[in-house]
Parts: sequence; C-alpha cells; structure tokens
Amino acid sequence: MATDLDRLVDEAHTAFAAATQPAALEDAKARFLGKSGKITERLKALATLTPELKREMGASINIAKSAIEQLLVQRRESLAELHLNEQLAAESIDVTLPGRGRSIGAIHPVARTWMRIEEIFRSIGFDFAEGPEIETDWYNFTALNSPENHPARSMQDTFYVDCNDGAGRPLVLRTHTSPMQVRYARMHRPPIKVIAIGRTYRVDSDATHSPMFHQVEGLWLDDNISFADLKAVYTNFLRCFFETDALALRFRPSYFPFTEPSAEIDMMFTSGARKGRWLEISGAGQVHPDVIRNFGHDPQQTIGFAFGSGLERLTMLRYGVDDLRLFFEGDLRFLRQFA
Ligand code: PHE
Repeated sequence: MATDLDRLVDEAHTAFAAATQPAALEDAKARFLGKSGKITERLKALATLTPELKREMGASINIAKSAIEQLLVQRRESLAELHLNEQLAAESIDVTLPGRGRSIGAIHPVARTWMRIEEIFRSIGFDFAEGPEIETDWYNFTALNSPENHPARSMQDTFYVDCNDGAGRPLVLRTHTSPMQVRYARMHRPPIKVIAIGRTYRVDSDATHSPMFHQVEGLWLDDNISFADLKAVYTNFLRCFFETDALALRFRPSYFPFTEPSAEIDMMFTSGARKGRWLEISGAGQVHPDVIRNFGHDPQQTIGFAFGSGLERLTMLRYGVDDLRLFFEGDLRFLRQFA
C-alpha cells in the first residue's frame, strides 16, 4: 500500500510539473485532492476497513496527502515566479541601445528680431498691435495720403486680391505696416505710443527683397512729439538692438505721402568688424496733418512721428547675413547657426 501511495505522490509531482498555467495546475489538483480525487477516494475507502487498519492506512494516506499539498504549493509559487519573469522579459528596456536622438528646435532669426524689438519698445512704454495682412485699399493707401496715381499703388508693386471687402472696396496684401497707424489711431485717443510688427508683401524679389517680408511700424502721437523725439527714440532703439553705442545715425531727407517732413534713416557702425558704410534702415517722418485728420484727430492739437523698418534688414545687419532669401529657404545648415 505504501508503494502505491508513493507512486501517487510521484504521479501528482509529474502532473503538477506538466501544468504550465495556473488553471491547468488547479485541474491537476482536483484530480488528486478534489471531491472525487485519488486521495479522497482512498480516504473514503477506509470506511470498509477494521479500526486498526483504518488507523494505519489513514496515517499513510494523510502523509501522502500533505506531501501532495506541499507539492501543489511549491508549483503554485514556481508558476507565479515564471509568470513574473516572462512579464519582466517582455517589458524590458534595453538601456544599452543607442538613443533615438531628438533635434532641438530654435527660434528663427527674424522671429528673434521681432521678440527683441518688442522687448525694447515695451521697456519704454509702447503698446503693441497686430492687424490684417489682407487690407483694404483705403487703409493701405488712401488714408495714408497716397494719391491714386502713386507708383506704390501700381500692379508692379502691389499684390491685389481678386475680390473686394464686400462694400466694393479693393483688397490688397498690405504693402507696409503703416495701415496699422490708421487702424490703431482711429481706435485710441492721444497720447498714442504703438508698435505694430507683421508680414508685408510686395512684388519684389532679389538678394535684398522678398515678396513677403516683415516690417515694424512705430507711431507716437501727443500734443508735443517732435522730430527730436524720433531721433532720440530711434537712436536708443538701434543702440539697444545692436548692443553697441558705436553707431552713427543719419536722417536723410526723403518723401512719403503720409509724413512731412520725411526722412530715410541710415546707420553706420563706427567701430568693430562691422565698421563701414552707411546702410538704409528705416523710413520715418512727422505724421502728415491730413493723415492725422484721417485718424480722426485734430492736427492743430496732435502731432507726432512714425517710422517703418524692415525686420530682415535689421536681422541681416545684426548677424552679418548678406542674402535675405536665406531667411525663407528653410535650409537647416543656415538656420542651425542661430540655434
Ligand atoms: N511705410 C513706409 C515704407 O514701407 C515706411 C514709413 C513708415 C515711412 C512710417 C514713414 C513713416 O517704406
């Protein structure tokens, strides 16, 4: 009988070892320890035996039973461990693999200039405004005193949009940021101190001109703002922007329909590697009385200056870039230099 029980324990051992999933192990358990399992059957059979045999056999069966129970517990544990190891292996991260690498983005040089200008003018109390790139002919030209036959209005310079504003007024891609003077001044009372930066468009394309470019417009109106203020503000701006006092400025008489007098602002570095020749940097002037009237203000009481400068030109001078088209070609070899 003892050998039969030993065999049963061996059999359970083999059955448990063959079970590779918890469910299969529980099935195997039932075959030995369940209600009609092999051990249970043997315990039931004791009823027919004499008291002595019952005691003797019962003790042997119980030893076999606890041996099988122990085997079961061991197998349960080893299966759980196996499962855990499989899971760890499946989810493992190979820390020795080379990284995928992620290139770091950078701010475009023209955007950098945009941000610098904002910082500088905010520090002296200028407000910031943004306006539409598709403008009415009225804001872009008429309100700014541009006569009907002014060359800027010609098809050679201006992108006309093939529809109107709904009230029959022609639409254009704004040729400068000056319409923002009109929009802002019509919505505010003097004193007005505003900067408007944005994209502008002209039918123009070479090393120093692109059909799309950026301008910064400045406008300061009050009852006593003069050309001297323009000189001071603009000189201060350039010194901050280029981070040097070694700059000379020249206000060269010029013509714009919306300013009188008008000037072209030239600058020159007076020392260092960039020392050299005069470079045109901005248009500027005292806002024309007719334009002040178009703003809805009284030119007898309101006076001030405006300027408009190209962001690409400022950026080229700051970084020593000689071809404006490089800003818009998206060549990473060029752009990486500013990262
Ligand atoms: N709008 C002019 C241009 O685009 C520049 C300018 C702005 C001139 C403001 C005078 C005053 O050339």
